[in-house]
Amino acid sequence: MIMIVERKPTADEYESIVAAVGFRGHDHAAAEIALSNTVFAVCAVEEQKVIGVARIVGDGAISFLLTNIMVRPSHQRRGIGTRMVQSLCGCMETLPYKNIVLEVVALPELQQFYERFGFTASRNAPPGMVKWFNKSDAANNSASGNPAPPDARA
Ligand SMILES: CC(C)(COP(=O)(O)OP(=O)(O)OC[C@H]1O[C@@H](n2cnc3c(N)ncnc32)[C@H](O)[C@@H]1OP(=O)(O)O)[C@@H](O)C(=O)NCCC(=O)NCCS
Repeated sequence: MIMIVERKPTADEYESIVAAVGFRGHDHAAAEIALSNTVFAVCAVEEQKVIGVARIVGDGAISFLLTNIMVRPSHQRRGIGTRMVQSLCGCMETLPYKNIVLEVVALPELQQFYERFGFTASRNAPPGMVKWFNKSDAANNSASGNPAPPDARA
């Protein structure tokens, strides 16, 4: 059975899934800092192995970003991504403040995936834009053999 658990992945768990989906990797120390600064995180766990992660970063009250939504390719299209995003939306609903915004930079083919949770294209800032710093095409610290998608944000 696959459980959605409200916890941060370890840096090793995170890096393993980043490599599995072929996103750009990060320095191990950077992953540890990033994960420790996460506001909400969930892991999808099967027999004690993390097969999916998703997290929300932000200022804790007004502005948040849904990011690093990743399910191992072997487990995709089985509703795990949906369950993780639903769980994180539940975490957001516990916040007592008004006019909170949760953003996501959706890959074009995943726009409908996010619309199912109530995300809508922003009238204020179409399209989503990103700027990279110290960009590297290495998929991870250890070679995964998978090319990084050109606009992957993980
Ligand atoms: C995107 C991702 C997190 C979705 O997780 P998942 O567990 O596979 O998704 P679900 O099974 O909950 O999908 C629910 C629905 O979303 C849509 N969907 C999911 N993945 C999709 C994809 N790659 N392309 C188009 N539609 C997709 C489908 O409508 C799907 O329903 P269906 O399987 O009945 O057709 C997963 O495919 C993944 O890790 N991809 C690689 C990393 C990535 O791109 N992350 C998102 C960055 S914005």
